Amino acid sequence: MLYAGGVGSAKSYALLFKALTHIARPGSRGILGRRHMPELHATLWRDFFDIVPPDWVKRIDRGRHSVEFRNGSIVDFVQLGDPARVKGPTIAHVGIDEATEVPEDSFRMLRMRLRQPGHPGQLYAATNPGGRTHYLYRDFVDQATRGHGNAYYRASSLENVFVPPEYHEDLLRSFGGDYARRFIEGEWVDWEGRVWPSFGDHNVLDAAATFIPPEWPRDLAIDFGYEHAFACLWVAWDHRVSPPRMVVYDEHVERRKTLREHAESIRLHRMQEQQPFLGYQSAWADHDAQDRHELLSLPPDLRIVTRPARKHQRALALAAMEAAFRPRQDGVPGILITSNCRTTIEQWLGFRRPRVIPAGDPDAVVEHNERGESIDDTCDAGWMAYWSRIGGHFESEPAYQPGMDDRARHRLFHRWREAAER
Ligand SMILES: Nc1ncnc2c1ncn2[C@@H]1O[C@H](COP(=O)(O)OP(=O)(O)O)[C@@H](O)[C@H]1O
Ligand SMILES: [Mg+2]
Repeated sequence: MLYAGGVGSAKSYALLFKALTHIARPGSRGILGRRHMPELHATLWRDFFDIVPPDWVKRIDRGRHSVEFRNGSIVDFVQLGDPARVKGPTIAHVGIDEATEVPEDSFRMLRMRLRQPGHPGQLYAATNPGGRTHYLYRDFVDQATRGHGNAYYRASSLENVFVPPEYHEDLLRSFGGDYARRFIEGEWVDWEGRVWPSFGDHNVLDAAATFIPPEWPRDLAIDFGYEHAFACLWVAWDHRVSPPRMVVYDEHVERRKTLREHAESIRLHRMQEQQPFLGYQSAWADHDAQDRHELLSLPPDLRIVTRPARKHQRALALAAMEAAFRPRQDGVPGILITSNCRTTIEQWLGFRRPRVIPAGDPDAVVEHNERGESIDDTCDAGWMAYWSRIGGHFESEPAYQPGMDDRARHRLFHRWREAAER
C-alpha cells in the first residue's frame, strides 16, 4: 500500500503505526527503511521510540539499528539506497519512508522477500509524490497500469490537525504553483521548464557595495567534479531573521583540475575574505564522495574538513529554494547572491528540467550546454548549502540553526556525525 501526501501530512507517523500492527503478530520479522542511514537514524529510528509501547521492547541494538520485542518479533532499520544490500531472508513486512527516493531495484527486491510463513506479507510505503514517470506512480496511482491489490491513499498537508496552524501558514507562504500541488496537496505532477523561475535580478547584490558583517556565520559548499566542474560556493547567513537569510558571496568553479589545485584556489579566496573574518563554520560536501577523505589528507594549510551535506529530499530542497528566491514580508528575498558570482548566476538562471526524463531518475534536473557539459554544478552546491542549514524546518527532525547555543549544536553534530559514519 502507498500513502502519498504533502509535507507534514503524518506520512512517517502513519508508517510507524502500520508497523506496530505487524509487530504485534508474534514472531514477525520486518524492515523499516529509507534511502540513506543518516536520515533514517534521525527520523524513523528516533520517532519509532516515541510511538512503540515501552513494555513491548525486549532489546535495542543501537549499533545495528535493530529492535527485538517480547513477543519474538524483530524489526531492522535498513538503508535501501543500494539494492545489493537489500537482499536477505524472508520477512513478514516492510515499511518504506520517502519511497520516491528509493531505487526501483531495492523496491522490487524487498517485495520478493515478503514470504515469511504464517504472515500475510505486506509492503507499505509513504512518500511525497514524485513525477508521473515514477515507478510508484505507475504501480499504485495510474488507473491504466496499477497493480492488482495495490492500495493508494493521498492526503494534503492541511489535513493534519496535530500540527500548529502556523506550520500550515508557513507552508502556504513557502510553496506556490506546481510545487504546492506536489508538496502541500500531495498530487503527482510533472514539472517543466525552469527549476527556479523566481530567481532573477532582485536576488543579485552589487558586490562592491556589499559588506558581510563579521558575526554572520560563513559556510562553504562543495560539489565535487572533474569532467563535470568542481564547484565551491561561499555563503554567509543573516541570522537576525528567521529562517536565516542566505547570501552567496563568492564562487570557485573549474573543471579538469585535481583536488589539490582546487584546495589551493580555495585558500586564495579565503585570503581575500573581507576582514575581520572569523573562519568558516561548515564546509558542506556530498557525503557519498571519496573526495572528502582526499581533502582531509592534504597538507595542513590546504586541508579542508568537510561535513556531510544534507542531500535527501532533493525535490523538496529545490522547491524550498524557489520559495526563498521570492521577497519575504520585509521585502527582501530569503536568498541573495553578489554580482561577482557570474557562473553561479548564469547556471541558476539556466537551471531547467530536461525535456526527456532519464529512466530511473524521474526528478532529474541535469541540463547540458551546447558543448555537452553539464551546467548544474553550482546549482547542486547551492541547494546543499541551503538545505544543510534550512532543511530541518520542513521535517520533524532537528535542524542546525546559526543562533543555536554551542552545547545544543555539539549534541546535534554529534548525532549526525555518528549516524553518518555508520
Ligand atoms: N496520530 C498522531 N497523533 C499525534 N501527533 C501526530 C499524529 N500524526 C502526526 N502527528 C504529528 O504530525 C507531525 C508530522 O507528522 P510526520 O509523520 O512527521 O509528517 P510527514 O512524514 O508527512 O512529513 C509529527 O511530528 C507529529 O507531531
Ligand atoms: Mg516524514
